[in-house]
Amino acid sequence: MFAVEPSAGMRKSAPRSTTDQISWIGGGAEALPLRDSSVGLVWSAFATHCFDLNAAASEFARVLKPSGRVLVWHAFPDVLDDLAWFRWFPAARILDEERMPSASMVQTALESAGFKLLGRSDHQMRIADSLTALADRLAHRSISTLNLISDDDFAKGLSDLRTEASRPDRTDPVFASNVLLSFVVR
Ligand SMILES: C[S@@+](CC[C@H](N)C(=O)[O-])C[C@H]1O[C@@H](n2cnc3c(N)ncnc32)[C@H](O)[C@@H]1O
Repeated sequence: MFAVEPSAGMRKSAPRSTTDQISWIGGGAEALPLRDSSVGLVWSAFATHCFDLNAAASEFARVLKPSGRVLVWHAFPDVLDDLAWFRWFPAARILDEERMPSASMVQTALESAGFKLLGRSDHQMRIADSLTALADRLAHRSISTLNLISDDDFAKGLSDLRTEASRPDRTDPVFASNVLLSFVVR
């Protein structure tokens, strides 16, 4: 199994338990460092906003074997209403609506490269055990959108989130809507 990741830091921080089964390779989706017709499945999670969709779709078609599949997983803009943490960071939502490709944009790019959409399924992913755990995670500001908003917007959002998290009725796990698109080589 190969994982293609342009960031040396991300490759280095990959969990050790996965590194025996996965070969990490420097590179990007637009120029995959893989041979033609060499893999059965391409899996992209939370990354379609990072690359050129048309160039990536051509590369997926090149590296896949006949009848190969592509799975694309993301929180596309049409499900952002369900991404709970945007409530405290409205400026982040505006940015993501502008920069995140929609599911139909992904579909158009893959269809142009010769793929057929097999289906779309909507999922609820547990993203934190509680609002407090969510606040602790977001405090690292490792989500790229939280780095793009102003320091003031970030500080206010985190403070409001921690206030709500301190309420005794807000101890439930936090879920977010995600979408899985599956494609097959036509
Ligand atoms: C939001 S993170 C998602 C990471 C992981 N897939 C996950 O689901 O947690 C987006 C990842 O895409 C990587 N990335 C950036 N540009 C890329 C490109 N051109 N091709 C492939 N991956 C890219 C980033 O370095 C980052 O690791």
